[in-house]
Amino acid sequence: MRDCGIDPARVTALKAREDARFAREHQRCRALLERARGSMPNGVPMSWMVSYNDHPPVFVVEGHGARFSCADGHAFLDTNIGDKSTFCGLDPEPVVRAVAARAAAGWQFLQPTEDAAEVAEELARRWGRPYWQFTLSATQANVEAVRLARHATGRDKVLLFAGNYAGHADELLVSYGGGGLREPYLGLASRSYGDVGLIDFNDVAALERALATREFACVVSEPALTNVGVVLPDPGFHDALRALTREHGSLLVLDETHTLICGPGGLTGRWALDPDVVVAGKAIGGGVPLGAYGMTEELAEVFVSGRGRDGREGELATGGTLFGNGLSMAAARAALTEVLTDETYARTAALGARLADGIEGLARGAELPWAVHRLYARSGWSLCGRLPRNAREADEDAWPEFSALQQVYLANCGVWEAISSAGPAVSAAATAADVDEYLAALGGLVTELV
Ligand SMILES: Cc1ncc(COP(=O)(O)O)c(C=O)c1O
Repeated sequence: MRDCGIDPARVTALKAREDARFAREHQRCRALLERARGSMPNGVPMSWMVSYNDHPPVFVVEGHGARFSCADGHAFLDTNIGDKSTFCGLDPEPVVRAVAARAAAGWQFLQPTEDAAEVAEELARRWGRPYWQFTLSATQANVEAVRLARHATGRDKVLLFAGNYAGHADELLVSYGGGGLREPYLGLASRSYGDVGLIDFNDVAALERALATREFACVVSEPALTNVGVVLPDPGFHDALRALTREHGSLLVLDETHTLICGPGGLTGRWALDPDVVVAGKAIGGGVPLGAYGMTEELAEVFVSGRGRDGREGELATGGTLFGNGLSMAAARAALTEVLTDETYARTAALGARLADGIEGLARGAELPWAVHRLYARSGWSLCGRLPRNAREADEDAWPEFSALQQVYLANCGVWEAISSAGPAVSAAATAADVDEYLAALGGLVTELV
């Protein structure tokens, strides 16, 4: 961590004060956590729930619009938006209505419902990839996209950019936890490292060298990295990525799981990108579990015929019993047609800009060297005055103790801050007053620090 004008001793002292306050004010949540430790490792149903905040988790009672409340009766303005999964809001009325209607008529048949066709057609219209398949999560969609690429190209390996998170499948996690940036995740098969090539985002020369080996079935990447703060592509990077993948016979899989909050067709639409496969998840089902991947006509032909480049024929490995279930598809239809509208994207982008302007103003007022990034509904800052060009730079600029203080300080102000690798974002339910509330809380922290 480079010097950024904030005294580390002040951070430590404030953190101790805010941790004590959080503990005092969340005694019922703490009791629930203690009880749950008797039946779930770490006391939570999914262990990541305790590791993405330094302070303890809260047990949620209910959520409406842009706010949820915990078992201790505290309400939080949600700027984490479920790591983008609740971009539609916490209880979007059209999705609630569609889910209730579907639930009343049964939802799991292992047969399609008409909603599936509606959703596939709408996704095709938005992303310009004509054929779609569904899973229950973005991870599973990425796994199937990679299998399709392997079969279509007759190659095994996957090329990833360090810091690109594409889900919790073994080989996909190599780029996030095991690429030398931070401690590798435990439990990954050691052979996963051999299945993956790893290079820096925005490094066209390394990309060319890797693809020229003609070992890679595909490159899997987000259009902009969003899980190490935000790393934007250099001008021309996407053109090079597309040209080089084509030249060397690798497919391009763009994962829009997070960036679909940027526009109706994600950044593919905003930046006129041309991937072979698009992956989506999280908010696409309005918060109800759903993953999706869209493909070109040519790949759909491989998919249906089962005939790949290596001459083998058969059935592509896909599927899960609950994938494409009626509930998820009903939720997605309502989310896409009634919540994720052009008007919503225009409004949330404007709120994201208000957030970025406000953060810039705070930093300027306190003479802090923060560099602010803007990504439509999401904004954030780098503490050290540069916008990172790859995950290595993002890691150099990260200050985990500061992020931990920021999270607990804001929680004590009634603002649920984003996980530290992300940054605040607004949902379709947020208002300008919500953005100003976030800025007031952050401003309080800045005043105490500087
Ligand atoms: C870009 C991206 N792709 C895929 C995933 C995996 O999503 P899920 O955990 O819902 O499978 C994530 C999760 O954070 C993500 O950020």
